[in-house]
Amino acid sequence: MTMHQHLLTQNGFVRQDDLTYPFEERGLQFGDGIYEVIRVYEGTYYLINEHVERLYRSAEAIKLTVPYEKKKMYHYLNELLQVNDVKGDAKVYLQITRGSAARDHVFPEKPEPNLYAYVKDLPRPKSFLESGVSTITQPDVRWDWCYIKSLNLLPNVLAKQTAREHDCFEAILHKEGEVTECSSSNAYLVKDGKVYTHPAKKNILHGCVRMRVEQFCRQLNIDFIEEPFQVEDIHEADEIFLSSSTAEVMPIVSVDGKSIAGGTPGVITRKLQQAYEEDAGLTAGSSIFSSNTHA
Ligand SMILES: Cc1ncc(COP(=O)(O)O)c(C=O)c1O
Repeated sequence: MTMHQHLLTQNGFVRQDDLTYPFEERGLQFGDGIYEVIRVYEGTYYLINEHVERLYRSAEAIKLTVPYEKKKMYHYLNELLQVNDVKGDAKVYLQITRGSAARDHVFPEKPEPNLYAYVKDLPRPKSFLESGVSTITQPDVRWDWCYIKSLNLLPNVLAKQTAREHDCFEAILHKEGEVTECSSSNAYLVKDGKVYTHPAKKNILHGCVRMRVEQFCRQLNIDFIEEPFQVEDIHEADEIFLSSSTAEVMPIVSVDGKSIAGGTPGVITRKLQQAYEEDAGLTAGSSIFSSNTHA
């Protein structure tokens, strides 16, 4: 995965090798910061407004001042793609911390936030999108404010690692049997033609793609029901899928070693994948439907 040379920082653009961090840095020592991962298709951002809005909401929630106002943020993020001459599919990772300061839980008197953003090439995960992925269930041991996209990701990291150790793509998280979301994506269950997902309360991340999935359902006359489902409902489901900026709308074909609905992606998931491709302006050459196997 090629990393592009030019990085955006709070002080403008620098080359990758020129960015160094002090070891007393609040992101490193406390995870005291926030981040976004933004999808880029053919050199253009997808859902940029949703990501920028969420970034500022996360910042406000942790009392962090973003180094630039929103208008400048859009400008610099666009410039990041230009200076790196990004033409293909990629992702931008952007993080902002409360800055460099002597280690103390209390905020520094005059915080000077550190920001960096970089671009990495990222092709669409086409074979997974076509055939679906395997998952496991894991307890959700995170804090109550998961709507903040904070750098504190240890429970997510451990859940995802456990998934990998079981040859799975993702971990479906649950609190005492109630499914919240996945370690780095939102989770959905389809039953009798209706899509169920956990309500956008404080204990899940309000995914940008989740917002779009809701919209696609409305456009397609599919009921989108914000009601949590249970782990025990999973094996009775007609379909299960997940969504995120990098995984898109991803069919889940197996949970905890048992296949879901015969182990093939379901009809509604396919419709939502198609709606996603249209919304993201993906061209025929990039489509998972162009071979016409799922139409
Ligand atoms: C915990 C969690 N839930 C959901 C998502 C999906 O969010 P989005 O659709 O904005 O990428 C992510 C994305 O990284 C995530 O980390």
